[in-house]
Amino acid sequence: MYTLTLMAQKGGTGKTTLAIHLAVAAEQAGRRAALVDLDPQASAAGWGDHRGSDRPAVAAVPAARLGDALAAARGHGADLAIIDTAPHSQSAALAAARAADLALLPLRPGVLDLRALGTTADICQLAGAAAAVVLNQAPPRGPLADQAAEAAAARLEVAPCRVGARVAFQHSLTRGLGVLEHEPRGQAAREIRALFEWAWARLAR
Ligand SMILES: Nc1ncnc2c1ncn2[C@@H]1O[C@H](COP(=O)(O)OP(=O)(O)O)[C@@H](O)[C@H]1O
Ligand SMILES: [Mg+2]
Repeated sequence: MYTLTLMAQKGGTGKTTLAIHLAVAAEQAGRRAALVDLDPQASAAGWGDHRGSDRPAVAAVPAARLGDALAAARGHGADLAIIDTAPHSQSAALAAARAADLALLPLRPGVLDLRALGTTADICQLAGAAAAVVLNQAPPRGPLADQAAEAAAARLEVAPCRVGARVAFQHSLTRGLGVLEHEPRGQAAREIRALFEWAWARLAR
């Protein structure tokens, strides 16, 4: 079982969004996914309740129970555990980074997210975790996304695929779906599929 942690010491970067859609993408690719929600707000777990399906498996756990949750996922035959984290708990983020085969750091183009990225990178470094930035809510035009990618690349690996700002990501969640189920041929689904395929290959490397 591989473990992928979504982390950023900043709220609203897209940790929960990407964790959910990647978990559905994993299932659609024929992998068993377990979504472990460490955020006390439990948004990913709420989506799981609303969904009425046990694939992917979703569990909200306190950080102190992360090891047990991952062991349970492995015991149930998961191929991939995806950990969603809260933005403001450094100790929980550190535990989630330590558990990760890859930490995925969503970054919205803009100076505020970029400032927070250094702290997240420090936590990954402390944990000895492999880390990669993924540009999220990237505007389709203009230099912002390229500038953010270039700034991030000074310190971290940057995923070659980006995720745009698309309403399908929100609309699907209100239906308890992932975007690959909601609009499988849409651009949002294409981006998530590409991100999953890249992350899976990166994990297996
Ligand atoms: N690629 C995207 N396109 C459109 N909206 C997005 C995208 N990523 C995130 N959002 C929206 O931004 C907000 C914050 O995203 P969320 O995943 O909850 O961030 P985090 O978990 O990092 O706090 C949510 O309202 C979510 O629907
Ligand atoms: Mg979140």
